[in-house]
Amino acid sequence: MALSPFWLSFFLVFSIATVNALTAQAFTGTYGINYGRVADNLPSPKSAVTLLKAAKIKNIRIYDVNHEVLTAFNGSGIEIVVGLGDDFLTEMSVNEDRAMSWIKENVQPFLPGTSIRGIAVGNEILASKDRQDLWEVLLPAAKNVYNALDRLDLTKVVQVQSPHSQGVFANSFPPSSCTFKEDTVPYMKPLLQFFSQIGSPFFINAYPFLAYMSDPEHIDLKYALFQSNRGIYDAKTKLHYDNMFDAQIDAAYAALEKAGFGNMEVIVSETGWPSRGDESEAGASVKNARTYNNNLRKRLAKKKGTPYRPKIPVKAYVFALFNENLKPGGTSERNFGLFKADGSIAYDIGFTGLKPSSAASPLLSFKETGSSYTLVFASCAAILLLIF
Ligand SMILES: *[C@@H]1O[C@H](CO)[C@@H](O)[C@H](O)[C@H]1NC(C)=O
Repeated sequence: MALSPFWLSFFLVFSIATVNALTAQAFTGTYGINYGRVADNLPSPKSAVTLLKAAKIKNIRIYDVNHEVLTAFNGSGIEIVVGLGDDFLTEMSVNEDRAMSWIKENVQPFLPGTSIRGIAVGNEILASKDRQDLWEVLLPAAKNVYNALDRLDLTKVVQVQSPHSQGVFANSFPPSSCTFKEDTVPYMKPLLQFFSQIGSPFFINAYPFLAYMSDPEHIDLKYALFQSNRGIYDAKTKLHYDNMFDAQIDAAYAALEKAGFGNMEVIVSETGWPSRGDESEAGASVKNARTYNNNLRKRLAKKKGTPYRPKIPVKAYVFALFNENLKPGGTSERNFGLFKADGSIAYDIGFTGLKPSSAASPLLSFKETGSSYTLVFASCAAILLLIF
């Protein structure tokens, strides 16, 4: 029996609708930037929009729901993931109505002019010892936010997410041996269960810089910076890695697969390299920051997958748009920006600043000394050394 055109179109529409219902797409292309604002000297949000549009950036993340920022992006076409701060999680977890009023106040009024495409519920909660009180409220908070969005019929527009640090992974090398830390598993698994139901990816903050900084003696800087090097070999998967960024993403895929979520996509919610640091922060320099961010940009532009997931193009948000002068911690923390606080470029990777900069010189062909290439070390291991 032949299907009539009516039924054909019905099935077509139905199948498209099914796919859309599963996933609110929160990412266009492969390159995004985190727009952090822990500073008192930044250009106005409107200037930030000008800068991002000139750079043709299509995706940003912000860490709050600042109304001036959300208004500035009205009509910009730039897709935004907003942050539901850690301090709100407990409140959101007890009550769906509270999540509803937060969304009605901070998300819904800005749609559709401001393209809010995601809500990041908390940031790096699991595995953070400082926030252990929040481990158990993360999932209920995410569920309440999702249910409130559902009641407003916004789940196809706004994706619920929760970015993790690499601290959620157990000490393991090579990438294929990565697992979730035992004490996070009771919280991680139900969270993954929920995110897999609603079609939300796994968001990871992945920093080759932190791995390098924790063990500069044994990690080849070129491996961390996407430069030509021997790379590492994963004997179990028989895969070769020529850069740490890809290895860190595949470590996340390996951990997810072992936890029973082999189909979940991994998206890098933060990655970056600081252009300055303290004496103790090995690798923090303008030269290395420029090399990392320039090569990262080229790597993402290829729209290629990783060795273990070759068909899933890697998507990442760079950290960060600006240097942020009020961030606590080591000097590196205040120097992750692609741009300085005055809007000029921190170094040249092909973007244009709001004003000319002394750093605006063509990419130099600097010489690497490359003395340490013995043990090349990837994945979660080195990072744990740093965090715990
Ligand atoms: C966004 O811009 C449109 C068109 O100018 C306007 O109608 C709308 O009120 C604006 N939205 C907000 C939240 O300011």
